[in-house]
Amino acid sequence: MTAGRTILVTGASGNVGRQVVAQLLAGHTGEVRALTRDPRAAALPGGADVRQGDLADPAALEAVLKGVDAVFLIWPFHGADAAPAVVDATKWHAGRVVFLSSAAVQEGVPRERQRHAVGRWSARVEQLIEGSGLVWTHLRPSTFAVNTLWWADQIRAGDVVRGAYGALPMALLHEADIAAVAVRALTEDGHGRTAYALTGPEVLTQAEQVRTIGEVLGRPLRWQELSRAEARQRLLADDSFPDSFVDPLLDGYAAMLDAPPPAITGAVEAVTGAPARTYRAWVSDHAADFS
Ligand SMILES: NC(=O)c1ccc[n+]([C@@H]2O[C@H](COP(=O)([O-])OP(=O)(O)OC[C@H]3O[C@@H](n4cnc5c(N)ncnc54)[C@H](OP(=O)(O)O)[C@@H]3O)[C@@H](O)[C@H]2O)c1
Repeated sequence: MTAGRTILVTGASGNVGRQVVAQLLAGHTGEVRALTRDPRAAALPGGADVRQGDLADPAALEAVLKGVDAVFLIWPFHGADAAPAVVDATKWHAGRVVFLSSAAVQEGVPRERQRHAVGRWSARVEQLIEGSGLVWTHLRPSTFAVNTLWWADQIRAGDVVRGAYGALPMALLHEADIAAVAVRALTEDGHGRTAYALTGPEVLTQAEQVRTIGEVLGRPLRWQELSRAEARQRLLADDSFPDSFVDPLLDGYAAMLDAPPPAITGAVEAVTGAPARTYRAWVSDHAADFS
């Protein structure tokens, strides 16, 4: 599978999907089809065949999937109810799927016993894909570096970032690295029946992340610890943050704090040949987003 094949990228306007589209357009010789619910707002590059569609409406997905060989699938829902229909529609058309899952999935643990809500719904989608007959690759990324843009308003307003679990260690990933692994799995053979645990190259606590942003921006930024209840109120009052994700996020952070610190996997480099980008590099790429 490589040249001349048609690849559908779902979540094409999102952090990872936009990078997948850009990297495919830069190197893939086949058609790059990009799914969005709102083509005008998505502002996708001209080289992509942009299609309107909604993963919650799999019947309408049929037209989008026609002629597609491989799918980059993201799961934007906080539950897996829509997944059987989406996987069914995909398997009638494509031969391969690369699923953006999550490191919240605990390997070898049945989905109903997964500790965390994200793990439960992601494991359910993984399980459906594995039973579908599609050639599958699951990407299980650790925390995205782009999540730290949640602090951008506070950083624009002053030198203090307030939040819960400042001591929480994370192995933050650059979205371009997740996309680079996805592109390999979409365009090369040899990645089937594989779940890649993806991490960045280093472990930093949230307080250290804030310090790193300050060092790159040349400002004395510091972390101020809030209780979980205070952080919860703050997130619920933030119109740009989905209310339905506040408790899953804070539960996930609490579980991560109880677990051993994340282990660096090296999977990005093993698959792409290039080391995973550091958090400092990510902040440099996004410095304008904090100003
Ligand atoms: N953030 C993390 O730390 C982290 C860690 C591990 C895994 N993940 C997983 O990564 C995924 C999010 O990826 P991301 O950050 O690249 O996405 P994102 O930037 O949050 O964007 C969401 C994407 O989903 C699309 N979308 C939303 N609802 C849709 C629907 N009903 N039908 C079709 N498309 C829909 C949006 O497209 P339009 O609005 O253009 O339709 C957009 O492209 C989630 O599944 C999350 O669980 C995240």
